[in-house]
Amino acid sequence: MKELLQALTPGERDWQIATRLDPKRIPAHIAIIMDGNGRWARQRNYPRILGHKAGVDPVRMVAETGAQLGLEALTLYAFSVENWKRPRHEVEGLWRLLRFYLRRELPNLMRNDIQLVAVGRLESLPGPVQDELQAVMDKTALNRGMRLNLAINYGGRTELVDAMNALLDNARLEGNLDSLEITEEAIATHLYTAGLKDPDLLIRTSGEMRISNFLLWQIAYAELYVTETLWPDFTRTELLEAISNYQNRERRFGGLTLTSPAPVETSPLLLEEEALELPLA
Ligand code: FPP
Repeated sequence: MKELLQALTPGERDWQIATRLDPKRIPAHIAIIMDGNGRWARQRNYPRILGHKAGVDPVRMVAETGAQLGLEALTLYAFSVENWKRPRHEVEGLWRLLRFYLRRELPNLMRNDIQLVAVGRLESLPGPVQDELQAVMDKTALNRGMRLNLAINYGGRTELVDAMNALLDNARLEGNLDSLEITEEAIATHLYTAGLKDPDLLIRTSGEMRISNFLLWQIAYAELYVTETLWPDFTRTELLEAISNYQNRERRFGGLTLTSPAPVETSPLLLEEEALELPLA
């Protein structure tokens, strides 16, 4: 948080939003569904790939701002297992952009102490993309600031399938398949995000009210922030506004909070038995 304030000019809009944030309640993990590149391009009569190209700068901005805010993790949905259905030239254009991003961003990742990790079924990516991802993962492996997860050839369901198979494989290797017990912890430790806190905040751009097979297990209690802004237009101001909006939410994780009305069974006016007789609304 201190780093962010140092990078901002006192008085400007981002500084005003940032200074009003509660530094103790910055989300540990933010996940983003970066949507709307195609629509951004269509509005300008550009080919779709130019929309993706315009989406690279906001990727750079959220990574840098996330690191300055002191996030533990930022997970970006860059390519889903379903995205292979797009025209070949668009998919190939996305790989070119990813390689361009990796080459250009390495110095910034190092300067901001960001560890880049690609999550997804990486073995199906073109060889040169795998190689460049691996090189950047190796070079940033010892960085101890924010972890930047790039979800590539990622699907929430395939991640769960991979986790279950990993659980089975480990049990087979250790010879304890018969006593294998599936628990929430066992599943969580075999996900691509093992060891990270679950996202506190899930941002989706371009207004669609969908999860699109993203982090299905991990977002169980995430707060959702959907904005009409198309991804190439997503700014630092809006990222800070999303965090400010998140800080005004009341997170209950299925329980009750101090501001919730007193539960019926503790109300002095109504006995539990009487409450059960009340007609259902
Ligand atoms: C969704 O927009 C976006 C994607 C499928 C790809 C995301 C890629 C980037 C942000 C560019 C580069 C990324 C990295 C990590 C360097 P869409 O095409 O579905 O938009 P539409 O719904 O308006 O058609």
